[in-house]
Amino acid sequence: SEDQKSVNDHLQNICVLLEKRVPHYNWVGFYFRNGKKEELVLGPYVGAPTDHTVIPFGKGICGQVAVSNKNFVVPDVSAQDNYIACSIAVKAEIVIPIFVNGENIGQIDIDSNTPDPFTQEDERFLEFVCAKVATILP
Ligand code: SME
Repeated sequence: SEDQKSVNDHLQNICVLLEKRVPHYNWVGFYFRNGKKEELVLGPYVGAPTDHTVIPFGKGICGQVAVSNKNFVVPDVSAQDNYIACSIAVKAEIVIPIFVNGENIGQIDIDSNTPDPFTQEDERFLEFVCAKVATILP
């Protein structure tokens, strides 16, 4: 629908802006819960294309956040056993859930090619972005 197109355009613009403006954000994308299914589907993103367009709940960093409802900051992806690698350039990752009416409906996922780049400032900033995103979702 036109509604969904316009929302996706906004989400795409957010990805572009974040990747351009923050040097340690190298892949920026949204994953959303697929209806009532326990899986995430890739939405708008910027960065290298990924094969992981569908991620089951529990799998990888993203899948774990779908279950925990908590931020997940990974300073060193090589130290994680439940991790889905998309690119060998990636050193670190941050995933922040998006809540609508208290329900975890998706997340923003950011990969960094810099080791251990994410601070509490990134967490607070991305929580703010996710709260704004929640207000435009259909
Ligand atoms: N690394 C993620 C998979 C998605 S990619 O980063 C685009 C994970 O472990 O869930």
